Amino acid sequence: MDLISIEELDRAKIDEIFVLSNKFREGYKSDLPNRIVALAFFEPSTRTYSSFESAAKRLDVKVIGFRGEQGISTSKGETFSDTIRMLDAYADAIVVRHKYEGAAKLAAEVAKKPVINAGDGRNEHPTQALVDFYTILEEKGKINDLNYGIVGDLKYGRTVNSFLLMLNKFSPGKVYLISPPELRARKEILDRLNFNIEEIDELEVNINRIDVLYVIRIQKERYLDAAEYQKVKGSYRITKRIAENMKKDAIILHPLPRVDEIDREVDKTENAKYFIQAQYGIPVRMSILTLILGDSYE
Ligand code: CP
Repeated sequence: MDLISIEELDRAKIDEIFVLSNKFREGYKSDLPNRIVALAFFEPSTRTYSSFESAAKRLDVKVIGFRGEQGISTSKGETFSDTIRMLDAYADAIVVRHKYEGAAKLAAEVAKKPVINAGDGRNEHPTQALVDFYTILEEKGKINDLNYGIVGDLKYGRTVNSFLLMLNKFSPGKVYLISPPELRARKEILDRLNFNIEEIDELEVNINRIDVLYVIRIQKERYLDAAEYQKVKGSYRITKRIAENMKKDAIILHPLPRVDEIDREVDKTENAKYFIQAQYGIPVRMSILTLILGDSYE
């Protein structure tokens, strides 16, 4: 089984991942002897790389691979496909991050072993969506019938794409997509959504209606034109005053890294859940690795 897009997972599989994540948090030990996972990160990462590495080690799965292309033979001209072929020979599963959309899909076509998409360009980041929704379930007790506000660079944010496509599998209340006109979500994503959305420019108008505010940074590395980036830089910011106008039990999520789109002061509010969200990356990725590497747990 590969995991390239969140669309590949049905509700039963998502529920299975969440149940298993709870079991790992309660101390469950899986049985994955002599397994090796390759982490092939051609693009920078803190959370996804480290949480996959930590998850694997907690499962007694050995880790090989790299983060960044400096130390590998693509820097000498080897192709991406040949690199994946090698990891396919050395490991039992491959986790791929790449700046190009479609790289994980290509890796899955080349490799016989399972491939997990850890973020491909502006396309998708399915394991992040599983972490996001596990956090919502833990912090709000449910996913359905909540009002969602998704704010930021909806044009280039891959976590947003996976978030929205995962929301398709549930029954959300109102979903506000909040961004300057230049950063609106792409039509190819919007056309696939089966719930009602409202695209708005301003966050503050509806802030007291939102239960889950999902914030992402401007994806600077996707802008080929520096002038285009400068135009939208700093165009939204979650301040303490905005947080104070939210419902008392509303939560603020962010896949991180954060740049300047959430003030540091917000971190101390009850609404801020983005650091615990990053911590949930461990049990959720332990579950993903377990299901993909084939433990038969009870
Ligand atoms: N959320 C996320 O993908 O973070 P990293 O880029 O640090 O992996």
